[in-house]
Amino acid sequence: METRHLQPSSIPPLSWQDILASLEEAVIVVDAEGKISFFNQAAEALTGLAAFQFQGRSYVELFRSDRWLLDIARVSLPPQQTAAQGEGELSTRRGPPAPVSLSVSPLVDPAGRSTGAILLLRDLTLRKEIEEDLRRSDRLAMLGTLAAGLAHEVKNPLGGIKGAAQLLKRDLPQVPEAHPYADVIVREADRLNLLIEQLLDLCRPVRLRLAPVNVHELLDDVLLLEQAAPHGATVAIKKRYDPSLPPVAGDRDQLTQVFLNLTRNALEALDGRGHLTVTTRMETDFHVREQGRERGSFIWVDIEDDGPGILADLLPHIFSPFFTTKNNGTGLGLATCYRIVREHGGLIRVDNRIGAGATFKVSLRVAE
Ligand SMILES: Nc1ncnc2c1ncn2[C@@H]1O[C@H](COP(=O)(O)OP(=O)(O)O)[C@@H](O)[C@H]1O
Ligand SMILES: [Mg+2]
Repeated sequence: METRHLQPSSIPPLSWQDILASLEEAVIVVDAEGKISFFNQAAEALTGLAAFQFQGRSYVELFRSDRWLLDIARVSLPPQQTAAQGEGELSTRRGPPAPVSLSVSPLVDPAGRSTGAILLLRDLTLRKEIEEDLRRSDRLAMLGTLAAGLAHEVKNPLGGIKGAAQLLKRDLPQVPEAHPYADVIVREADRLNLLIEQLLDLCRPVRLRLAPVNVHELLDDVLLLEQAAPHGATVAIKKRYDPSLPPVAGDRDQLTQVFLNLTRNALEALDGRGHLTVTTRMETDFHVREQGRERGSFIWVDIEDDGPGILADLLPHIFSPFFTTKNNGTGLGLATCYRIVREHGGLIRVDNRIGAGATFKVSLRVAE
């Protein structure tokens, strides 16, 4: 029989190992007894385990904490030998469980005998984050319209209330005991007005004045300021800067606002005890370019604290305007950060460790 070459001879032949090593999907091959016979690089990255640690061991042992996965994988081996799919959370050695999709297929030899199964796992973290981002921006857009409308409605009567209180005080010189009440009204009206101004700020489109910004200088300024504040003085602040970091394209004032808010939140969470670590680094995950994200190089700034972290059921709400767990909080800090970072074409992410801290990560585009 004639051998047909599918590859033009100018392309060097690829080994199947090279192909599997380049895949973003985790590929795990097990033999008919369920022992692992192949584990590609993506599988190592996803599980946080080196291939040699699992070569020859049972897949049941590897995934013993993920029952859903074992249940699906089992059907691809004898006696059933059928393909199956599913989604679930995969426990990892390197951190919180990762959302993954799994698809399993039986492996058969030309005679139809089972020689094992192939498990394909895809990390869905990024997809979930993008979906959450979309939901969040939808929610913020809706809230923004609502809030802007309400703010305008409230601002006018508020001006009236304040004016009337000032008049009362002026026109009642003979009742000085009433004056403190008028002062309270004026003060509280001013406070409300400030809050509304902040809210309107959040809803107005920002006009960015982009210029190359030295991130380290900016962070140093922010940290200097916060270290002098009462809540910052007793916290150990560590800087882990990548000295080769290029300047980013940004609006310096707006970015200062972002990192002030994030640092202040971290320090408030630490409540005078613990560590704040600020790390800068180049983005290295070039192959996981997110959909809708423009091309270009990006840097990341991580603001990490070892405070209490965020309770799991509160996590979906922290970027919403007015969501706060603090007695004197406004709940506008993270909503503002989110908006400014998005306007810069960057991303903001949170790595939450319940009981052990939180890391807020901001990516920004490198200046041309
Ligand atoms: N580093 C952090 N650690 C723990 N919780 C945090 C952290 N940063 C933000 N949060 C939570 O997110 C909420 C919203 O933050 P933010 O929008 O800045 O508003 P505020 O600081 O006024 O409460 C906070 O009230 C807090 O519950
Ligand atoms: Mg805050």
